Amino acid sequence: MQPAHPLDAVTHPDPYPYYAALARDRPLYRDAALDMWIAAHPDAISAVMRHPAARVRPVAEPVPRGLCPGAAGDMFSRFVRMNDSAAHTRLKGLLAVFIQAQQQSAPTSPAWLPPAPHDAAGIDGYLYAAPVHAQAAFLGLERDLHADCAADIGGFLSALPAQAGAGRIAAGHAAAARLLGRLETLLTGQHASPALHRLCTDAAQAGIARESLAANLAGLLFQSCEAGAGLLGNALVMAGRRRTPAAITPEDAEALIDEVVRHDPPLHNTRRFMAEAAQIGGQRIEAGQTVLLVLAAATMIQPEAGWTFGAHNHACPGGLPARRHAADASVHLLRAGVDPSALAARFRYRALPNARVPQFDFLEDSKP
Ligand code: HEM
Repeated sequence: MQPAHPLDAVTHPDPYPYYAALARDRPLYRDAALDMWIAAHPDAISAVMRHPAARVRPVAEPVPRGLCPGAAGDMFSRFVRMNDSAAHTRLKGLLAVFIQAQQQSAPTSPAWLPPAPHDAAGIDGYLYAAPVHAQAAFLGLERDLHADCAADIGGFLSALPAQAGAGRIAAGHAAAARLLGRLETLLTGQHASPALHRLCTDAAQAGIARESLAANLAGLLFQSCEAGAGLLGNALVMAGRRRTPAAITPEDAEALIDEVVRHDPPLHNTRRFMAEAAQIGGQRIEAGQTVLLVLAAATMIQPEAGWTFGAHNHACPGGLPARRHAADASVHLLRAGVDPSALAARFRYRALPNARVPQFDFLEDSKP
């Protein structure tokens, strides 16, 4: 049975024929049941992304209500990912330069890798933790802080859904405060890399507050987590289906990750929120409407374009490190004896609205 709608497609076993048909036949349409516009063709997605009225957050709710007031809300409000302000453009440029410079100087040996787990529950945890460990090492945080960062990003993520209860929200604030503290210490301390020093100097010259810089370095940990979990998890499933040998080479792992980006990408959609009414692709979209940008459908028309990493103004600056870290983790897990065929034989997808993340440990009759 094909997916009922584009949100249902994220967790469907094989949504790709549906996505291809959507991009071809319904480039931009309104889905009354979802109460959203759906953009599925690359041209329609680009037109929305480029339109000044299409914002990354609803005008009335720049920060999820449940997170305000508190450290988690304050951190969220500063993320470039969640802003269309002039500050976004300034800071985004500096972050992109930093990521590129750090990429050249970061150690090639993946010393950041946490020990490989050997059961399905351990793999599920590893998918979320490994990308944060990788990013923490990439930023230059000391090794004994990596696991704490992964746990705190987990705490922050759990506080984001609108239905998160008071306990999760309190834990999210505490996690955000600890993350901000660690990154401020890194920024002011002796261990900052030359690329990080330059980022600090350039940000100060551009009038960007140190708190914003620290929040956005925590933002890099946050951005790498769930999408990174999907990239690594979908790579394990693909390796299992292809019976990839345990002695996988780094080059084979990079090719595997590229295949996943093209054929089973980790992030299937993102959203824009209309601040004003706009005429896009021959259709009038009213103020206050949400537009779902189906990146995985655009991938079916342009498989080489890396749509899962977004495009235009808010395009992901972390695509290269994300691919490299997922390739390193795949080599590590396979060589440590993790059997991808066994994983691919029994899994389901987590019930997420935009990321495709496999879950290997679950009870048959439990809800995803
Ligand atoms: C598989 C891994 C990843 C995927 C699929 C991914 C995907 C994306 C996508 C689709 C966006 C744009 C969202 C939108 O336009 O609505 C984005 C933004 C962003 N990503 Fe990634 N990302 C990944 C990993 C990373 C990593 C490792 C980093 C950090 C080095 C990172 C940093 C960012 C940042 C800072 C933004 C915000 C850019 C902006 O708003 O201008 N991402 N990512």
